[in-house]
Amino acid sequence: MTLEKPKLLTGDTPTGKLHLGHWVGTLENRVRLQEEGNYECFFIIANTHAFTTRYKDPAQIRENTIDVALDYLAAGIDPAKSNIFIQSEIPAIAELTFLFSMLVSHARVLRNPTLKQELKDKDLGDKFSFGFALYPVGQIADILSFRPSVIPVGEDQLPHLEMANEVARRFNQIYCNVDPAIPDSEQEAAGGLFPIPHPLVGRVRRLIGMSAPDEKGNFSKMSKSLGNAIMLSDSPDEIKDKIMKMYTDPNRLRASDPGTVENNPLWIFHDTFTLDREWVEEAKARYRAGKIGDVECKKKLVESVVSLTEPMRQRRLDYEKNLDHVFNVLSDGTARANEVAEITLNEVKLKIHQNYFTGRKLSLEM
Ligand code: TRP
Repeated sequence: MTLEKPKLLTGDTPTGKLHLGHWVGTLENRVRLQEEGNYECFFIIANTHAFTTRYKDPAQIRENTIDVALDYLAAGIDPAKSNIFIQSEIPAIAELTFLFSMLVSHARVLRNPTLKQELKDKDLGDKFSFGFALYPVGQIADILSFRPSVIPVGEDQLPHLEMANEVARRFNQIYCNVDPAIPDSEQEAAGGLFPIPHPLVGRVRRLIGMSAPDEKGNFSKMSKSLGNAIMLSDSPDEIKDKIMKMYTDPNRLRASDPGTVENNPLWIFHDTFTLDREWVEEAKARYRAGKIGDVECKKKLVESVVSLTEPMRQRRLDYEKNLDHVFNVLSDGTARANEVAEITLNEVKLKIHQNYFTGRKLSLEM
């Protein structure tokens, strides 16, 4: 028997193409961990979750699902090493969503800060569907179906992971007799079915967008729907256009004016994407002293970003020409994901005494 590797699970709701915020928030970590080879990696495209707000646009959800698959492959997720799969094709996830929904209170779900923020951003008030409120539980099922050790995500996902851990502990206590005092790291050794996974947040916790700040001076995060994003699939010309128009120090009218580096998107982006640290430090000093123009700094930033995204864009173009292959990748990844999730579901059924026809004992009790 080959010893199975610990698992890594994460994913995205298909809302459109992925951008630089996704790269620094989580994609970069995913590719690195895939290459280090210590985990079996599972990447879920959460298409069912897209229905929570966009149930009227099924064709678009399908298109966005393929877009996320293309962006994953473009970003360097390698189907020879990792599994990319489609949420709606994993029946165990739907079954476990129902069961797990009993292990968390309704009020607890509605207190989830990410859910609350979304209700606010999307102006849903009290009009949101029952399914919308259910989606964090669905995400718990996405995660626990794979019993992963690590979950690389953006910061906004942490409240969901916290809830997943609460449900995992509760399941272990109620159905596996794990003592409530057992620490997270020992839940499995103590007989719990579910290990407690660790989140892994990217080197930039929250990448800002390219637009001007609000009245209070706060920048919004990079987001496609806010129109302030550089997509991983943008062409060099599109990137140049966005960067040349980006917000910098509004008080600096000419290159000879002293500029402010702090909280200036131009420098936040250089710190994030320009590998030549020496250039950055030297240019910051010149910027402060009014000895370098915005245009020169922006051109350098265009170079930095294009050198990151251009290989991705080329890979994407290649995959776009071969969608058959992309569907095969998804089909293989989904088959492997089903193998793992089915095992978890069977174990769950055993633990909750609802295994009537497999591994059964012939008695009214178990
Ligand atoms: N909610 C995540 C997002 O909006 C997507 C997601 C669904 C996810 N299931 C997951 C992320 C499981 C990590 C683990 O992007």
